[in-house]
Amino acid sequence: MAVTNRVLRDRLSQLNAQVMGVSSDPFYGAPVVLVVLADRTRPTYLYDGSLVIGNMLNAAHSLGLGSCWIHRAKEVFESSEGKELLSRWGITGDYEGIGHCILGFPAAAASVPKPRKADYIHWEE
Ligand SMILES: Cc1cc2nc3c(=O)[nH]c(=O)nc-3n(C[C@H](O)[C@H](O)[C@H](O)COP(=O)(O)O)c2cc1C
Repeated sequence: MAVTNRVLRDRLSQLNAQVMGVSSDPFYGAPVVLVVLADRTRPTYLYDGSLVIGNMLNAAHSLGLGSCWIHRAKEVFESSEGKELLSRWGITGDYEGIGHCILGFPAAAASVPKPRKADYIHWEE
């Protein structure tokens, strides 16, 4: 589900903040929220949904957009209001919220990536 509607985006932000017990905006002011859900009846649903978000983050980066994985979609879409939203969107079946990919124009340049850890990959040649 791709959300650009401001009212809905703000409501998703509030629901997400409620899960954390805070009142700040978990979406960091980003105007676009991509909600990724996956079919729980598939044995690999969690990996599938996670890969979707990972690809979205890479695609956003390739376009010069700022993006971030924002968690707590599971809790939001297990709530009664979350379930109402799914039904309004015509999403039926056993779908679980995997996460959100937020998109926007970055307010600042990205920080320099940390150096690779020398011993992080084990090789056997
Ligand atoms: C499963 C998962 C959930 C995340 N949830 C959030 C989140 O709710 N809020 C947030 O600001 N960042 C979230 N992130 C982003 C991480 O905080 C972090 O920015 C990102 O993984 C890059 O980390 P690195 O810079 O250490 O490589 C999440 C990342 C992952 C993989």
